[in-house]
Amino acid sequence: MSKFNAVITSIGHFLPEQTLTNFDFEKFLETSNEWILERTGISERRIMDKRIINKTLPLNESLGVSYIGTQAAKECLEKRGISAEEIDLIIFCTVTPDMFFPATACLVQNNIGAKNAWGYDLSAGCSGFLYGLIAGCQFIKSGMHKKVLVIGADLMTSILNFEDRNNCILFGDGGGCVLLEPTEENFGLLDFSCRVDGSGGDFLKMPAGGSKNPPSHETVDKKMHYVHQEGKTVFKFAVSRMADVSAEIMEKNNLKGEDVDLFIPHQANIRIIDACVKRMGIDAQKVMINIQKYGNTTAGTLPLGMYDAINEGRLKKGDNLILSVFGTGFTWGSAYLKWGF
Ligand code: COA
Repeated sequence: MSKFNAVITSIGHFLPEQTLTNFDFEKFLETSNEWILERTGISERRIMDKRIINKTLPLNESLGVSYIGTQAAKECLEKRGISAEEIDLIIFCTVTPDMFFPATACLVQNNIGAKNAWGYDLSAGCSGFLYGLIAGCQFIKSGMHKKVLVIGADLMTSILNFEDRNNCILFGDGGGCVLLEPTEENFGLLDFSCRVDGSGGDFLKMPAGGSKNPPSHETVDKKMHYVHQEGKTVFKFAVSRMADVSAEIMEKNNLKGEDVDLFIPHQANIRIIDACVKRMGIDAQKVMINIQKYGNTTAGTLPLGMYDAINEGRLKKGDNLILSVFGTGFTWGSAYLKWGF
């Protein structure tokens, strides 16, 4: 057994200021505020650049997801009162990197001046942040590193087809960053359970742009560089797998509903969250929900959930926290943490 636990000691976030409401969608899509709110729980989402939906707006300098990660990392470091030079490792979890390569972790390393760090990107869609958190914790627990930044952020509007009402209403831009440090006390990541099932790969994907379908006029014409999703199938898998794994992590750790102080689920659809909560037997007041404000920010949902929970006074030292996710792959998982600051 390792002498160290890995604990979150600081958190930062970034959300673009511009919002896109359900009423905005009514102006250019056959949809309604009522439909979106009832079927998903979303009222509005943040959007980095309105040009994505209105090509007549003047061309801005485009900001990639590295901007979200950089701002979140800066806030995280500032809150902890440490210099970027103390960081050993940066893990950037995203499916919307600035470019395929170099890794966005490298761009953030340079932006914040983390001169002594190494880093890499991690792709697990909506499960990305949880997977990155678990990976980062292992470097701390092993004693190899003292300070690890894990960033979960996505700029989903860069890969959405705003003519596809099934999918474009679901997602938004944003993300957050946590700092992991060692502790000899019983705080931090205590247990996790994760799975993948590649047979679900076709149901939620970006079909082109990679080595299988390199970019061409044809792939652009066929709109293959956008999110493609069979929503109903993804929904069914998400409901059962996320509920199962959430119940499993509680059973493994002898946690009853009353022992859980806060549950932060991935924010994909309010109905998926409700199904998990029912299965876990926890009080609805112990569930962090902010999907109404941000939509699904993919790798951004968990750190944004933690950030809001702290600001709202709903997460304090010693609390039992459960995190659960489901995403492309399929990927899914759950983690049990004892909150440490
Ligand atoms: N506005 C109005 N109607 C819409 C619409 C929109 N934005 N999007 C779809 N519809 C229509 C459909 O075309 C369909 O019409 P039809 O019956 O005439 O074909 C009808 O609404 C019902 O569609 P359905 O697919 O049954 O809706 P749903 O209850 O399954 O909800 C999702 C659709 C996408 C909200 C839901 O499947 C979902 O949340 N899936 C999971 C997606 C997800 O979160 N993925 C991220 C990774 S976890």
